[in-house]
Amino acid sequence: MSEQSKVLIEVENLRKYFSIKAGAFRRKYVQAVESVTFSIYKGETLGLVGESGCGKTTLGRTIIRLHEPTSGRIVYDGTPIYDSEKHIAADMLPFRRKMQIIFQDPSASLDPRMTVGEIVGEALDIHGLCTGKQERRDRINELLDVVGLNTEHANRFPHEFSGGQQQRVGIARALAVEPEFIVCDEPISALDVSIQSQVVNMLEDLQADKNLTYLFIAHDISVVRHISNRIGVMYLGQMVELAESYELCSHPLHPYTQTLLSAVPLPDPVKSRANKRILLEGDIPSPVDPPSGCRFHTRCPYATDRCRSEQPQLKEQSPGHFAACHMLDG
Ligand SMILES: Nc1ncnc2c1ncn2[C@@H]1O[C@H](COP(=O)(O)OP(=O)(O)OP(=O)(O)O)[C@@H](O)[C@H]1O
Ligand code: SF4
Ligand SMILES: [Mg+2]
Repeated sequence: MSEQSKVLIEVENLRKYFSIKAGAFRRKYVQAVESVTFSIYKGETLGLVGESGCGKTTLGRTIIRLHEPTSGRIVYDGTPIYDSEKHIAADMLPFRRKMQIIFQDPSASLDPRMTVGEIVGEALDIHGLCTGKQERRDRINELLDVVGLNTEHANRFPHEFSGGQQQRVGIARALAVEPEFIVCDEPISALDVSIQSQVVNMLEDLQADKNLTYLFIAHDISVVRHISNRIGVMYLGQMVELAESYELCSHPLHPYTQTLLSAVPLPDPVKSRANKRILLEGDIPSPVDPPSGCRFHTRCPYATDRCRSEQPQLKEQSPGHFAACHMLDG
């Protein structure tokens, strides 16, 4: 078996509901992630796409248990770190070293009262990774160097940096503990277009150098299609399609994925004109009160009565290509 095909993370029927106030005495639940099942292979980049609010960040954070799951199962490299049926909720400290996150908003994710050296050093301290002050200083400088910053940046505060530099600090902090897996939560969407590719290239180089596994979250399929080995598409808290990147972009099976891809401009203007944009009607429904049956039925041009009452399951439609749609049942 190749290194690539070994499973690093298995997620089974993962749910994350948030409790919110609905009036003085009532509470409601935001079904942010609903029964999501998939695996992430060692050394791969798995892209995760979908509209704003569909649960990408919640899924990424719940996998590494920055959010406590509501139910389901998460296995990391053969060890269950969460299993609601077997009442397993592993101590996460040893896994925090292996599983890191680069946050969506670089400025909000860095403590404004700490210098960059303190921010990166804190991760080293929590895990006791340096024996003396000199080793700690050297390691911080080395990490800043890896992400294209320099020694003098260690004494500065986050507000003294540009968005791109702040994101580099976030990446240095994630790398400090030498992780195996990183949730990259829209690491470039808050950055100027001019520096987005620099940060993507840096993440790709680091992956090759350190054999990292990424869950790479993006709004836009065009951001992840070239850097991902596989892509997962989420709609209203559920995974609706998952396939190898080229396969998903060239043969999308789910009507929602087809819509997302129709919005991506193609480099060839003739093909681009032929690729008619599909416009979805209506807004994304609320995850507090999601539609019955297929959650996409309120916006799907092919919806039938069955779609309104029965939830489609994510099934393997061809080897490695999963999709959840009744239309594919044949
Ligand atoms: N802490 C929370 N409390 C209550 N609801 C939450 C919380 N965090 C997220 N949500 C809700 O869960 C749903 C999924 O949110 P999430 O941030 O995971 O979406 P997303 O796909 O990452 O969106 P975006 O692309 O805008 O970052 C949304 O309806 C959101 O309002
Ligand atoms: S199950 Fe029905 S509503 Fe859902 S995507 Fe398929 S055709 Fe559309
Ligand atoms: Mg998000």
